[in-house]
Amino acid sequence: MRSVTLLALQLWSAVVVAAPTPSTLDACKAIQSAVPGKLFYPGDGPYKQENSDYYNIGLSELMPACIVRPTLTPEVAEIVKILNKFADVKFAVKSGGHDPNAGHSSVRDGVLIALSQMKGVEYDKAKKVVYLKPGGQWSGVIKELEKDGVTIVGGRIGAVGLGGYLMQGGLSYLSSQYGMAADQIVEYETVLANGTIAHINQQTNKDLVVAMRGGGDQFGITTKFTLTAYPIGKIWGGIRIFTQRDPTFAALHDFIGGQKDPKAAIIFTTMSNPLGGSLFLVFFFYDGEKPPAGTFGKFEQLRPLIDMVKVQPYSDMVSLAPSSSTGVTMRTAFRSITLPYLASRPGWYSEIEAKWANITKSKLSGLAALTGPQHTIAFQPFGPLIGRASEARGGNSMGIKGSDPPRFILEITSLWSDKKDDEAAQGYARALTEWIEQQLKEVSGQASAKGDKVADYLPYFMNDAFAEQNVTGSYRDYERFKRAKAGVDPSGFWTRAGGFKY
Ligand SMILES: Cc1cc2nc3c(=O)[nH]c(=O)nc-3n(C[C@H](O)[C@H](O)[C@H](O)COP(=O)(O)OP(=O)(O)OC[C@H]3O[C@@H](n4cnc5c(N)ncnc54)[C@H](O)[C@@H]3O)c2cc1C
Ligand SMILES: *[C@@H]1O[C@H](CO)[C@@H](O)[C@H](O)[C@H]1NC(C)=O
Ligand SMILES: *[C@@H]1O[C@H](CO)[C@@H](O)[C@H](O)[C@H]1NC(C)=O
Ligand SMILES: *[C@@H]1O[C@H](CO)[C@@H](O)[C@H](O)[C@H]1NC(C)=O
Repeated sequence: MRSVTLLALQLWSAVVVAAPTPSTLDACKAIQSAVPGKLFYPGDGPYKQENSDYYNIGLSELMPACIVRPTLTPEVAEIVKILNKFADVKFAVKSGGHDPNAGHSSVRDGVLIALSQMKGVEYDKAKKVVYLKPGGQWSGVIKELEKDGVTIVGGRIGAVGLGGYLMQGGLSYLSSQYGMAADQIVEYETVLANGTIAHINQQTNKDLVVAMRGGGDQFGITTKFTLTAYPIGKIWGGIRIFTQRDPTFAALHDFIGGQKDPKAAIIFTTMSNPLGGSLFLVFFFYDGEKPPAGTFGKFEQLRPLIDMVKVQPYSDMVSLAPSSSTGVTMRTAFRSITLPYLASRPGWYSEIEAKWANITKSKLSGLAALTGPQHTIAFQPFGPLIGRASEARGGNSMGIKGSDPPRFILEITSLWSDKKDDEAAQGYARALTEWIEQQLKEVSGQASAKGDKVADYLPYFMNDAFAEQNVTGSYRDYERFKRAKAGVDPSGFWTRAGGFKY
């Protein structure tokens, strides 16, 4: 009896919750007549295709009322003008759909503006810039530009989308050399809240450009990026897998604190070893065919279990990792915290990793451990070389500087398969960052007392953050950026859309 009532309740709520409001349906209709042939409803092929193209498969369940796929910037402007007339209609903007946060590039019962059909990359040889539209993936863009021997600062995993990556910062193999991806944007073609198509560039709108670099989707819909291009040839790189815990973490510690060569980069990922203990999967990258001896410090003395490093085209390097957005059929969440390098605490990474293993293990057993959250965390060096390169290009909203002590960005990725584990999986990641935050003051204080130079400004990295984290609020110049946002969005139009808010 109870279960019948429950079932009825669930059905009832499913029906009620899943129903778009009449004004949402009116908005869909108005958009359909403004951009004929480009708006789709559940049941239409393009709707199904767009709605299933999320890295986090759980987002497909949100089901927008309609999906519009504009191909031209004036169409985007039209759509924005129409949405202004429907003040209670929710909407979201999607490029690649790789942001795993519900409601960012996805929207339940609202209007989804999908930019997947606005694709194109063009190299301007005379100006040494690239014009890039927001649809598509990094692998295609990097391969296309490689024909001209150039590249832009972009994704490390080929399947990642362009628009969100660029709007939310963008950490690249090339970041120690040139800064973050957003630092390369010299001009934005952006549809503002009132439907105006604006060209926002470093000469005329310096402050706005800085606010928008890593500021997310709250300034407008960018339909074209102009980015600085750089030469690229064959590179040295690939994955090495290590098993020796202490020596591998020691090598990581030295690299985070002492990276000298801006052409080098690593991503350090840990995952549980099915045979017990952990595996340390490290992506190595060097912009050149042969890194000088010592570039990767103690890593060079370690013997990997598996070694896939080789000289290869840059486009092959970004395509090697398991990446396909359609191939992944897991529910997933990111969560991130930016942490200071503590010279006197080389064991910190190991402590953090052990805690993460404990948090996830203690709550899962048997079969659940196989289908439940997988614990992978990544330690991403975020050192002064990146700050220096960023400053040289006018800076971004994270406001990192060359004079800052080294930091690293911890990224927690949870993968799970069952909807009923959503809360639990997100809770594990939250428990880890809370545990770190609790001890942060103490361990930083201890390190300072020992004479370490410890970074105390620790902005979150938007591209790796969980929706509830106050990313914009962690920026030093939050108040200034908030005013800049209000300047181009006086009515708070974008606050209705998903994404990290101001
Ligand atoms: C496998 C994997 C690897 C990754 N590797 C990296 C990495 O190496 N470095 C890194 O920095 N990040 C990385 N990320 C994170 C990634 O950069 C973000 O998920 C990013 O948001 C993806 O871009 P997208 O276009 O797919 O975003 P979407 O999910 O489409 O959008 C994300 C957000 O940006 C907004 N947005 C999208 N396009 C526009 C636009 N044109 N104008 C205004 N707002 C827009 C959306 O509204 C949404 O709020 C990785 C993610 C995955 C899943
Ligand atoms: C992990 O759990 C074990 C057993 O419950 C405990 O002995 C150990 O101290 C824990 N480690 C951390 C880092 O919390
Ligand atoms: C985020 O942080 C800023 C700056 O500290 C604060 O003003 C704002 O209220 C915070 N927002 C939320 C939602 O907590
Ligand atoms: C649209 O908004 C921008 C930024 O606030 C403003 O400069 C512009 O004048 C507005 N255009 C119209 C037509 O109101």
